[in-house]
Amino acid sequence: MAQNKTHKVTLIPGDGIGPEVTQAVVRILEATGIKWEWERFAAGAEAFEIFGEYIPADLTDSITRNKVALKGPVTTPIGGGFKSINVTLRKQFDLFANFRPIKNLPGMETKWPGVDLIIVRENTEGEYVGLEHEVVPGVVESIKVITEKGSTRIAKFAFEYARKHGRKKIHSIHKANIMKMSDGLFLRCARKVAEGFPEIFYGEHIIDNTCMQLVMNPYQYDTLLLENLYGDIVSDLCAAFVGGLGLVPGANLGIDCAIFEAVHGSAPDIAGKDLANPTALLQSAVLMLHHLNESDAAERVQKALETVYGERKTLTRDVGGTAGTTQFADAVLAAMSA
Ligand code: NAI
Repeated sequence: MAQNKTHKVTLIPGDGIGPEVTQAVVRILEATGIKWEWERFAAGAEAFEIFGEYIPADLTDSITRNKVALKGPVTTPIGGGFKSINVTLRKQFDLFANFRPIKNLPGMETKWPGVDLIIVRENTEGEYVGLEHEVVPGVVESIKVITEKGSTRIAKFAFEYARKHGRKKIHSIHKANIMKMSDGLFLRCARKVAEGFPEIFYGEHIIDNTCMQLVMNPYQYDTLLLENLYGDIVSDLCAAFVGGLGLVPGANLGIDCAIFEAVHGSAPDIAGKDLANPTALLQSAVLMLHHLNESDAAERVQKALETVYGERKTLTRDVGGTAGTTQFADAVLAAMSA
């Protein structure tokens, strides 16, 4: 444990279910005994109403200073409106690696017990560069950008993670049969990086086949290396293996800055009802604790979470229980102090 250190963290509760799950997670983090200083900011539509900016300058300054943020989901308007706050922050802080571990919790009865997959998604390029324009009425161009630098650094991240954590296989997931140049470049970069890691099996599968292969037999994969859009879609598919979006954590990692957030969105269908499962954000916070060298606290929180799942008495509705967000957080707190 980083002795007596106060961790200053930028906190973005977000909207929809964001404030509810964030509140639950902050209560649990406060109970670890670590000293926290939260710099709390609104983002998106809420921030625009108050400050006239979707990402207030103070929020950007806070992340620049603290280099660590914990973030709830932020709603992005569909088919128009402001640019995604999530994508903007990832680009602004060059958080090129989106790391999403997909692992079963004890007590979760799913069709695929024991799934243990790592998703490594390139987080700044591809279709997410936001270059779209109308050429003539009725014709729109959307530009996908893949670079040698971006593809090489995400491949390096995946291989270095695999080596450090004893993972055995990496598959690049692509559509280079159709997007021969862009996905072709992504693959060439990954192959080159793979040469430096002979102990790790390197394979390549086409994205459409991969979706079928995953649903038939997720155990055949270990670590998936994907471009931005493929990684986004495959993350939600893989979330279903372990019980849904209420569970899967994520980290957006750059060279010296990181934003931890769940895979899920703002879930407007259940927002404001104390129904959301805070597990995904809590497991993201566990990743943050490891990042902050607070591994003891990370393990205590994870163990308490696993106890609550193992007992199956106080789970939220999305995973077959009847508890609310607050009640679930209470159960984790009780397990931590038991
Ligand atoms: P969503 O992830 O918000 O919801 C999909 C389904 O999963 C819904 O049925 C929802 O109730 C359920 N769900 C999600 N999280 C849950 C949780 N913690 N507990 C229980 N159930 C949960 O995806 P959707 O509806 O496509 O997107 C809603 C909004 O969120 C959109 O504006 C989207 O742009 C935004 N979004 C934001 C993200 C972020 O801030 N990082 C990521 C993904 C989407």
